[in-house]
Amino acid sequence: MAYLPLRTVGLPDASDRFFDGWLEQVEARLAAPGADWYRFTRDLLFEIWYPGLGDYDGLIEDPATPAGTRAALLSLDPRNVTLEPEYYADVDAERYARVKPLHWLWQSFDRSPLGGGNVHLGVRFRRILAHHLFARCGRNFKAFQFVEFSYGYNLEVGDDCVVHRHVLLDDRGGITLGNRVSISDYANVYSHTHSIVDQKEVTNARTVIEDDVRITYHATVLAGVRVGRSGMVGAVAVATKNVRPYHVNVGIPAKSIRVKPDAPPEAYVTERVVQHHTREG
Ligand SMILES: CC(C)(COP(=O)(O)OP(=O)(O)OC[C@H]1O[C@@H](n2cnc3c(N)ncnc32)[C@H](O)[C@@H]1OP(=O)(O)O)[C@@H](O)C(=O)NCCC(=O)NCCS
Repeated sequence: MAYLPLRTVGLPDASDRFFDGWLEQVEARLAAPGADWYRFTRDLLFEIWYPGLGDYDGLIEDPATPAGTRAALLSLDPRNVTLEPEYYADVDAERYARVKPLHWLWQSFDRSPLGGGNVHLGVRFRRILAHHLFARCGRNFKAFQFVEFSYGYNLEVGDDCVVHRHVLLDDRGGITLGNRVSISDYANVYSHTHSIVDQKEVTNARTVIEDDVRITYHATVLAGVRVGRSGMVGAVAVATKNVRPYHVNVGIPAKSIRVKPDAPPEAYVTERVVQHHTREG
């Protein structure tokens, strides 16, 4: 195995300075006392999606504006869209309404030519939103493109966490990520489940991913599962039960195949003894 830490990739100085300035403006406007996040989102998306088009309200009112264009313009305003979590009966409507514009801004930014795969700008832009959107967001949070959340306000994130492309963090029942957690592309972490008899019967259970855990590509962690410190869920695995600290669990349902070589002695408790007392896999 080769040791391959990430490279540093630079931008031309002038662009770098411009992006810094723009992000500072975004940060300041979101943090301003009494900031109207709905209006801010609408105006920013108008700039990003329709550069140079001029006056938003004028275009909406102008009978010459084609109906499809008007629909697209109206949809920039978070008040004119609905998002899936709003339909969940357990949503805290007031809390969700507060963060809804930031969900819409995050999603729409990611789909824009500006946001897209632009890592340098995108990671820092999303970090600004995350600090307002999540219950808690630690230092250096890094989210790549197309990450989705349910409520956002039930998500706690520690320091130095990385969430890769197309990850779903369903924080309906709450998700806690410790420090230095990495969640790889296309992974899903759930915190709610439905009765097999009546789909409308929902159980919410907080899912906890402890410090230094890696949830790897396309893996799924089900509601209420705790992945112990330095644990790992292998590619495409489905963690239906707790993962013990320092264990590497793979398969469906995920089972421990090994203990990491740097584990402390207590990580080597036999599976049979642990399962007798808990529901660990
Ligand atoms: C979890 C993982 C690291 C295990 O690697 P490993 O410790 O080297 O394990 P091995 O390759 O020696 O495999 C041990 C056994 O588990 C099986 N196995 C390994 N990974 C598996 C997986 N994801 N799903 C099902 N079975 C798996 C192997 O087939 C092997 O089975 P066998 O003993 O019957 O032959 C690896 O499979 C994995 O999922 N890597 C994901 C890539 C990654 O690191 N992503 C992180 C990005 S941040």
